Parts: sequence; C-alpha cells; structure tokens
Amino acid sequence: MTITSLSDTDLEQMISISKHIFDFDFSGYAPESLKRRMLRLIEKWGFSSIYEFQYAITNGELSREALLNEITVNVTDMFRDPKVFYKITKVVFPYLESFPEFKVWHAGCSSGQEMYSLAILLKEHGLLTKTLQYGTDINTEVLKTAESGIYSISEMRKYSANYLSSGGQFSLSDYYTAKYQLAKMNSELKKKMVFSSHNLVKNPSFNEFQLIMCRNVLIYFDRDLQNKVLSLLIDSLAPYGYLVLGDKETISFYKNKEQLELVDKQYKIYRKKAIVSD
Ligand SMILES: C[S@@+](CC[C@H](N)C(=O)[O-])C[C@H]1O[C@@H](n2cnc3c(N)ncnc32)[C@H](O)[C@@H]1O
Repeated sequence: MTITSLSDTDLEQMISISKHIFDFDFSGYAPESLKRRMLRLIEKWGFSSIYEFQYAITNGELSREALLNEITVNVTDMFRDPKVFYKITKVVFPYLESFPEFKVWHAGCSSGQEMYSLAILLKEHGLLTKTLQYGTDINTEVLKTAESGIYSISEMRKYSANYLSSGGQFSLSDYYTAKYQLAKMNSELKKKMVFSSHNLVKNPSFNEFQLIMCRNVLIYFDRDLQNKVLSLLIDSLAPYGYLVLGDKETISFYKNKEQLELVDKQYKIYRKKAIVSD
C-alpha cells in the first residue's frame, strides 16, 4: 500500500534524507507545493514508507537528478507571457544599447526557451552580438535541453503568436531549422550563451549583470528563501541594472526593497538604485 498523504513530519524526514545524502536542501520550498510533488514521487515509485524512499536513495535507485526532476517545476514556454518581453524591448533595451558589451542572467532558466526568446529579440534590435547570456538552473537535465536548443516542432508552431505579441518583426520559423518532429534553434542565437548548474539557495553570485530575469522561480520558495534569493539577485546586478521577475511574483515583503526602483508594476520590472544604503 502506498502512502496517500504526507504529514509535516514525513516531509521533514524526506527533506532531511535528501539534505544528508544529496546535499540538496529544499527545506525553504513552499511546503504545500512540495508535499504535492513528493506525493506524486511516492506514487510513481510505489513507496509504502519513508524508509523505502530512503532505501531507494542510499541504494542508488533514485538518483539526485531523478529526485530533482520530481521536485522542481520546469514548465516554461517560448516567449512566455509575451507582454513581459515587449516591455523589456521598450524599457530595458535602450539601457542595454548604451554598453559596448553587456551580460544577462536567466536564473532558473529551465530548458532555455526564455533565453532563445530574448536572443531573438536582441538580434532584431541589433544587440545580440554585444550580449553574453548566462543560463543557470539547479536541474542539470533541463540544462542539457537548453544547451541543445532543440525543441518539439509542434511547440514552436504554437508560439508564433507569442513571438508577434512580444514585438517580433519577422516569423519565428526564421530562427530554427525543422527536421522531422524537431526544431533546432539557429546556432547564431546561442553563440554567446553559457549554461551552468547553479543553486540559487546555496551558491554565491558569479558575475555582475545589466539584466537578470528570474521568472516563476521565487513562487516555489517560502518568504525566508525569497528574501535570501532576492538579495543574491540584487547583489549580482550592476548599478542601474534591471531585474525582471514577471507577473507571478511579488516583492512587497522584501526586507531591502528600497534598493530597487519599480519600473513596471504589472510585470515586476525593477531597476537597481545606484547607491544602496545598509
Ligand atoms: C517554472 S521554471 C521557470 C522557467 C523560466 N524562468 C520561465 O519563467 O519560464 C522554474 C525553474 O527554477 C528552477 N529552480 C528551482 N529551484 C532552484 C534553485 N534552488 N536554484 C536554481 N534553480 C532552481 C527549476 O529547476 C525550474 O527549472
């Protein structure tokens, strides 16, 4: 008989096992969403006790990657929430234009669709060759897809309308080559993309960026973790750099929100103030 509900103690035990064996601590992930995902994992693997979960991990049956794949929500789209991209072209691109070279960080980039979407718009505005795009995620499986730049053709066809709503000037199909059921993004787009595993909860900042996009990631964390990750993102921004969180996030609770100037309320676009008081 499999477990059909999880108590707080069960969840704590699972968190502790993962932390000790995989050095992966998801204690700050929003508990209700985490419980749902854990229950799904338990059902899928047919565990009848937390002990079996532990056994599968210590035995090597359930790898760190497999666990991460179950815990992390990797849903993403090309030109997801197209109006955010449109706003970026209007508000952020003029600032980026002033640099001979600039850096963009996609924190929690999942399988990379957001990166290719931005790269297309950067190209259309003559900015792509000046851009270095960094894509990071805790889940190394999705990063492999991001690096390949290969998606299903049906997915690409679905996003033509999103591309146009983002301000795209041509046709999305100009940016990939179709082969059988797959679409391979043009290599020009990913020439200056770097992909790397990075845990926003644990790893430090690794560069200074003119633009950071971190959409649909903080919603999975509790307030303490959101505070911690927001501090990391802001520390990683160049003075006057932009932070794009998208319309699902809020920072109303954030302890140092005076470090940011609100640029767009709906799409949560912020600009780092130049002088930050302690
Ligand atoms: C829902 S996806 C969002 C993808 C993309 N930003 C978008 O809006 O379409 C959330 C991503 O955050 C990643 N993630 C979750 N916890 C993370 C952490 N601690 N550090 C880095 N990435 C994390 C997940 O693996 C997942 O790929």
